Amino acid sequence: MNGTTAPAPADRLRAALDVLLDGLPERGTAAAVERLIHHYRGRTPTDAPILRDRADAAAYAAYRMPATFGAVSAALDALAARLPGWEPASHLDVGGGTGAAIWAADAVWPGGGRPVTVLDWAGPALDLGRELARGAGAPSALRASEWRRARLAPGLDLPAAELVTVSYVLGELTGETRDALVDAVARTAGRVAVFVEPGTPEGFARVRRVRERLVGAGMRLLAPCPHDGECPIVPGADWCHFAARIGRSALHRRVKGGELGHEDEKYSWVAVVRPPLPEGASPAAARIVRRPRVRKGLVLLNLCTRDEGLREETVTRRDREAYRAARRATWGDASDPTPTTGDTDPDAGG
Ligand SMILES: C[S@@+](CC[C@H](N)C(=O)[O-])C[C@H]1O[C@@H](n2cnc3c(N)ncnc32)[C@H](O)[C@@H]1O
Repeated sequence: MNGTTAPAPADRLRAALDVLLDGLPERGTAAAVERLIHHYRGRTPTDAPILRDRADAAAYAAYRMPATFGAVSAALDALAARLPGWEPASHLDVGGGTGAAIWAADAVWPGGGRPVTVLDWAGPALDLGRELARGAGAPSALRASEWRRARLAPGLDLPAAELVTVSYVLGELTGETRDALVDAVARTAGRVAVFVEPGTPEGFARVRRVRERLVGAGMRLLAPCPHDGECPIVPGADWCHFAARIGRSALHRRVKGGELGHEDEKYSWVAVVRPPLPEGASPAAARIVRRPRVRKGLVLLNLCTRDEGLREETVTRRDREAYRAARRATWGDASDPTPTTGDTDPDAGG
């Protein structure tokens, strides 16, 4: 040990963004952020890129990239737990913008030396993403990444890659292009495809449709769902989403406003694998789909389960092991349903 530790991937990205965005005229960036917020609220597919120039791309990177990086990292982390020993030999990020998902993939499977390609129609976003990936703080594995201009539209063909990511893109596409993209991913993803969308009812509705379409095309569900069958969530009544805690840098606070040192990025996601499943790979038996609620002597878990759909589980102190695990559990964790009966009471005898 030499006493120094490598910075965490999120800190690394934040430091790289600070360097790249340092000296940007604050007023211009704030105006570009306003414009982006306005656009994303409208959520309408556009005929031309929203990220039109460097100020837009810089605003996106400062305002959104730490959060999309956080969400995609959390999703890929949870996916990697279901695919022990697997690493992608190549990565294609579709609608990759400034490249949050390639930083996330490198955080989960570091130093792979794999070919990495980012596709997007917004030249300024690709330019800024390329600079970030070639910058001093970037992981060396991203330096050779390829940044290609491409328009997603019906009839599109994607280059083949073992891992394909599509994060925060579908909301900007027409329904027809969305379906065409999902079908293209189903044709070309060598092994794994991951879609991440905002954790809103609309984002989840898109993920749900992707899920059905990919399973219909013969892919197998790996996460977060515990099975390939029909999603038990009643459309309109609820939506499946998770939260990633994002630390905010001073620059991020300045650009986004707000005083808090962190925010929770809500996201919905789905990951599929081309069969046969690699050895050791399997969906979780159940997943925690809400923040666990801790009460005196018990923990309430909302689970989406393989065999029993959605159900609430009460884990009491009586079941010492399960209770300990439940106290540590967080929203989004995989979980093996645990029996609530047990013959030892941790309260008994102190
Ligand atoms: C919200 S950004 C997400 C960027 C990145 N994937 C992330 O997670 O941070 C949406 C991206 O999709 C791209 N995009 C939207 N419509 C597109 C189209 N028709 N063809 C190519 N790229 C498109 C945009 O240029 C933008 O970079």
